[in-house]
Amino acid sequence: MAGAVMNVEGGTSFPAKTTWQVIVCSIIAACGGLMFGYDIGISGGVTSMDSFLIKFFHTVYEKKHRAHENNYCKFDNQLLQLFTSSLYLAAIFASFAASIVCRKCGRKPTITLASCFFLVGAVLNFFARNLYMLIGGRILLGFGIGFGNQAVPLFISEIAPAKYRGGLNIIFQFLITVGILVASIINFFTSKLEDGWKYSLGGAAVPALILLFGSFFIYETPASLIERGKDKKGLKVLRKIRGVEDVTLEFEEIKRATELANQVKQPYRQLFKRQNLPPFLCGTILQFFQQFTGINVVMFYAPVLFQTMGSGSDSSLKSAVVTNLVNALATIIAICCVDRVGRKALLKEGAAQMTITQCIIGAILFTHLKVVGPIGSKYALVVLILICAFVAGFAWSWGPLGWLVPSEIYPLDVRTAGFFCAVAMNMLCTFIIGQFFLSMMCAFKSFAFFFFGFWNLVMGISVWLFLPETKGIPVDEMAERAWKKHWLWKKFY
Ligand code: BGC
Repeated sequence: MAGAVMNVEGGTSFPAKTTWQVIVCSIIAACGGLMFGYDIGISGGVTSMDSFLIKFFHTVYEKKHRAHENNYCKFDNQLLQLFTSSLYLAAIFASFAASIVCRKCGRKPTITLASCFFLVGAVLNFFARNLYMLIGGRILLGFGIGFGNQAVPLFISEIAPAKYRGGLNIIFQFLITVGILVASIINFFTSKLEDGWKYSLGGAAVPALILLFGSFFIYETPASLIERGKDKKGLKVLRKIRGVEDVTLEFEEIKRATELANQVKQPYRQLFKRQNLPPFLCGTILQFFQQFTGINVVMFYAPVLFQTMGSGSDSSLKSAVVTNLVNALATIIAICCVDRVGRKALLKEGAAQMTITQCIIGAILFTHLKVVGPIGSKYALVVLILICAFVAGFAWSWGPLGWLVPSEIYPLDVRTAGFFCAVAMNMLCTFIIGQFFLSMMCAFKSFAFFFFGFWNLVMGISVWLFLPETKGIPVDEMAERAWKKHWLWKKFY
């Protein structure tokens, strides 16, 4: 291919400079992660605030304050859990709609729409007078997240040059962790105010406004423009974001790929063709596993968990800030390592670390947290340290790679459909964990942690056996250089 450059792995790459346009556009779009993270981080703190419980969940409030109440069951309430998880149910439907809007109208308007939904949801929650307004607001937030999570990783993958796609993609996960951290700090302060929950929930408007404002300044991706017949504009944008005059080869490659993709009238049916099954299974199951690490037990319910162990509400919120800081810092390690040590090594190490920490937490709670009475400050500290080690293990492996790997393994003709399945699996499992964890803890007690420990073991072994290494392989060469070389998946080609 004249003009194309051979990269270190022997694949082709197109001429491109590291332009500020690509970096700025990626950071702006990744603010979709800030919205997602803010919501993850805010709900746990809010559901442990007395003023919130008194207003919306009075029975939970009374139960929580009954001294003789069972430690493991004091927060078990399906409605309270619906507050957290309703958003994810809405997000599943929204991401399907978003996959269509993304294809027909482009990535940029999908991102703008995401911020609008989220903004309206935040305003509704701020003014909520009853449970209906509260849940209604959360459904709108769910629409925002569904649209954002579908469009943002796709947007970044399409504007980033192949050689630093991994790093740019993880900015999305990094901003998720920043959002979670900021939310937990906000919760810490608002919990001291009368009706502090209002400010926590209303604060979601800030990341939405940042994304809304920013979305007016980003370019539409060349692939989306060309796919919709706007070739001239696509070529112009490609020149700008690559920082080189001669982009003919990349332009032709996009044109060829979009022509092929446009021939596929039913991408969802195409997804189930034999040769697409390996990426479909790996991408979707990877997101199932990401949620069954048990990460959102910590993200949603850390303050509730710490209160379960007998900490006061202030120190519970402080502990949540600590775990979220570890989450953000450890994600930076993933950004630095992912293109050097590879995806598989990080995923296996993360799974091992999470299995061990979950099992030790389970053992400590089993032996020291009785049905009534606190766990004791010494053990509470040990559990906090173990939770930080668990979160770090997630943050440099399954967190970012749960989004990165599905975005790089699909051929173009089924990429949006395949990625939708990964997003939907993420949202569905997040819903299940959000909705049932507190009931599960009430029923299983400390065994809830062994349950997640078991899944972490299964996923470590599965990665070792079934996931091909994708490090350094250009997306369009994935079939030849990853799937066709795998001991099992090669049989599908
Ligand atoms: C996951 C979220 C999780 C977050 C924690 C994301 O990759 O999809 O469910 O809460 O990481 O950092």
